[in-house]
This record gives sequence, structure tokens and C-alpha cells, in this order.
Amino acid sequence: MADLSVGLGPTVLSTPLVAAAGTVGSVVDFTEVTDFSWYGAAVAKSVSGEPWTGRPPPRVGPAGVGMLNGIGIQNPGIDVWVEKVVPELTTVPTQVWGSAGGNTPDEFAGVAAGYAGAGLPAIEINLSCPNLDGHMFALSPSLAAEVVSAVRAEVDVPIGAKLSPNSEDIVSVAAACADAGADWVVLTNTAWGAGIDIHTRRPTLSGVIGGYSGIPIKPLALRCVIEVHRALPDLPILGCGGIASGEDVIEYFLAGASAAGIGTIHFAEPRAAKRIIKELESLLRRLGVTRLADLTGAMES
Ligand SMILES: Cc1cc2nc3c(=O)[nH]c(=O)nc-3n(C[C@H](O)[C@H](O)[C@H](O)COP(=O)(O)O)c2cc1C
Repeated sequence: MADLSVGLGPTVLSTPLVAAAGTVGSVVDFTEVTDFSWYGAAVAKSVSGEPWTGRPPPRVGPAGVGMLNGIGIQNPGIDVWVEKVVPELTTVPTQVWGSAGGNTPDEFAGVAAGYAGAGLPAIEINLSCPNLDGHMFALSPSLAAEVVSAVRAEVDVPIGAKLSPNSEDIVSVAAACADAGADWVVLTNTAWGAGIDIHTRRPTLSGVIGGYSGIPIKPLALRCVIEVHRALPDLPILGCGGIASGEDVIEYFLAGASAAGIGTIHFAEPRAAKRIIKELESLLRRLGVTRLADLTGAMES
């Protein structure tokens, strides 16, 4: 059996799969639905400094084989989250990471401090939510770096910067985040998208434009992984976008990823992680690969 354990910067994961933020609720919410021991880590939905109510409905909708969402990071704020969710995390058989959201670098840093103070082992910085009014930090290397620096100054735990496939220059944003102290980058969040009901002439999402995810975005995110790994081979990458099979995981590793996030597949198949791991084991056996981590960046070109 191939060794599926991987390293993502300073963090060791027992399997390469990471449950993507926002697709398994607070993680605790999802423990009755899936067995988290198939995952190396699970990321809870993003949380801000103060409670956010999110967008009005409709907030999710189908878009071909993909999915649109415009939830607007509805969450109770970091203090309530820590009080309500953290005591339950001992029931989750994998490591749970927090995901920090915010409108200012200080807000991100405050959320990260809340997570770290509560003992969470790692934190994602959601620089790339496509549903917020105002700017998306991940589009600008300097704004992204400001947020990462503020978080880095506040916490010692490993941090991952979650970036956007809509960035004009993903390599510059990734480099700025690494220089500012990110231990890895998450490539990527959803892509901007929209849909319209031709009968009502109303948009699929109340916010009109939201995040497009699932199988169709795999080539978009994979392109980001390839570009960043080529330019910055020492920067660890958590690949994410459209992963739905063991083959997809291997593709992301070949492109340069060291771990694989799975998101939208949970909505169609909540227990997908077990199937994906079984497919991965069988494919690695057929390919004669004894250690998944050896495939990172092994694409021939
Ligand atoms: C309904 C929904 C909610 C999401 N919420 C968050 C979130 O709170 N924070 C975040 O960083 N990403 C969020 N994402 C993005 C996912 O974590 C993931 O990066 C993206 O969907 C691409 O992966 P996928 O194609 O496997 O879903 C959300 C995605 C969906 C579909």
C-alpha cells in the first residue's frame, strides 16, 4: 500500500485530503455525515471578527455540473465560534483548521488570534471570498501581504493564504504572501461566476455574481498550481478546485501540490473522501508509486 501521508510546509497530514472551507460547515456539523479519519485535515467555514448575516436567499444554485454560491460568509463571529464549536472539536478524528475572514488586516489578525488561542493547529486566511462587497485582498500582492503580515505578527501556528483564480498575476500574489510569512498557499478558492433563470429573468444568486466551483473549475485552479510551482518550487501548495476522484488528486500533485482540498463534491456525495482515497490507492499501485508525496511537481514537460 502506498504511503499517503504528506507534508504541507511544517504540517504533516495522515492523508492528502483536506475538507475545503465552507463545504463541511463547522466540521463538527458534518461528523454525523462523513468519517473525517479519511481526511488529513478539515477546514471550518470562514469566520470574521463580528457576526455576519450573509446574503439574502437565493445563496446557492446549480450551474451545469458546477455550482454557484453567494453565501457572503454568514457566521457568528470568532468569540461565539470559539465558545460553541471548539469544545466539540475533540469529536473530530482529524485536525481541524480555522479559516479567517475579515474586512481589514486587523480583523483577520484578531480572528486568527482567536483560533490560535483556542488551540487550533493551523489557520487558512481567506483572502479570496468572491461574495463580499468591497475588494478582494487576493487580487493585489500588496493587500494580500498586508493581511498575511498582520496575521503572522499575531500567531505562531502554520498559516495558509487562500488565493483566487481571478488574480491577474497569481505568482506575484503567492510570492508576496510567502514573503509576508505564509507557510503555504491554497490554490484556489471559487472563480467568479453568475447564472440567470430565463423564465423569471432573475439571477441565480441574490448577489448576482458569486463563486463558481466544482468539476468545471479544475483546469482553472490546476493552471494556478502549475504556474506557482514553476515560479516558486519551494512554496508548498494545497491544491483545490473541482477535485472529485483519485485521478484528480494525482493530477494536482503532478502539477505541484502537496495536498488536495475537496469541496463541492461533498454536496453531491458527502462520503466522497473514502471513495477518493480507495481510488488513489488503486491508481498508485497501478502506477508503481510507493509514496504519493514523491509525485509533487513530477509533471513531465
Ligand atoms: C457553498 C460553498 C461555501 C464556501 N465557503 C467558503 C468559505 O467560507 N471560506 C473559504 O475559504 N472558501 C469557501 N468556499 C470555497 C471552497 O472551500 C473551495 O475553495 C472551492 O469551492 C473550490 O473547490 P471545489 O471546486 O472542490 O468546491 C466555499 C465553497 C462553496 C461551494
